[in-house]
Amino acid sequence: MLVSAAKMLKDAKAGKYAVGHFNINNLEWTKAILLTAQELNSPVILGVSEGAGKYMCGFKTVTAMVDAMVDELGITVPVALHLDHGSYEGALKCIEAGFSSVMFDGSHYGIEENIEKTKEIIALAHSKGISVEAEVGAIGGEDGVIGMGECADPKECKMVADLGVTMLAAGIGNIHGKYPANWKGLRFDVLANIQELTGEMPLVLHGGTGIPADMIKEAISLGVSKINVNTECQLAFADATRKYIEAGKDLEGKGFDPRKLLAPGFEAIKATVKEKMELFGSVNKA
Ligand code: 13P
Repeated sequence: MLVSAAKMLKDAKAGKYAVGHFNINNLEWTKAILLTAQELNSPVILGVSEGAGKYMCGFKTVTAMVDAMVDELGITVPVALHLDHGSYEGALKCIEAGFSSVMFDGSHYGIEENIEKTKEIIALAHSKGISVEAEVGAIGGEDGVIGMGECADPKECKMVADLGVTMLAAGIGNIHGKYPANWKGLRFDVLANIQELTGEMPLVLHGGTGIPADMIKEAISLGVSKINVNTECQLAFADATRKYIEAGKDLEGKGFDPRKLLAPGFEAIKATVKEKMELFGSVNKA
């Protein structure tokens, strides 16, 4: 059964570790992440962007696939199915489609409009036991925009936290995708201010790919309880698949069978998820 992210993140905040949010793109991705979470006895959040949802034939298809997979694979660790960077309409669709968690990303609106729309999503989601993530500030690299991100205003974070969101994503110099060579690192001063004002609120760190281990640990110590990883699994999958093909393995025997062709990439996703769960400290926290 899918669960809201509320309890797992409350436990993570109290226990000073973070739950990994891993974006899914298809069946292999979903299976690799679920099996790794089960093997490591870790809670997990499956993130679905609107684009990935469309690619997988819509949110209803995603819910049906994830629900059935959790059941058929005998997954017993807590699993949340979460909309990543949702629009207002996307959040409504996911609530309707049976997601157990949604992000409404109103960060591109002015703060008043962000608050108004976030409030509406919270009222509807909470009436169905669904957790809600909101965003303040901007995370670089969103929607193809190349930038360093815009740090969140801690006072605005407090205003949004007070609406009763389950978790809050705040820009602290983090960027989606690979970090550029001239990246200045995370703004721990801003994170510390946000944590001071928002107290118990589980904070979310987007752009988990390529953040050095020491920065991840410091972020967790300052209240980050959910860390989003997408690009790193994609790079690992592509790299392993390329090696398989470059070695000519698809041309040996039945090596072209998709179950064989996709196997190295599948294993690479599993290895990446394992490494992240160990780093985030969520192993044996299910
Ligand atoms: P990365 O692609 O940089 O890992 O970021 C993932 C993310 O934050 C999804 O919301």
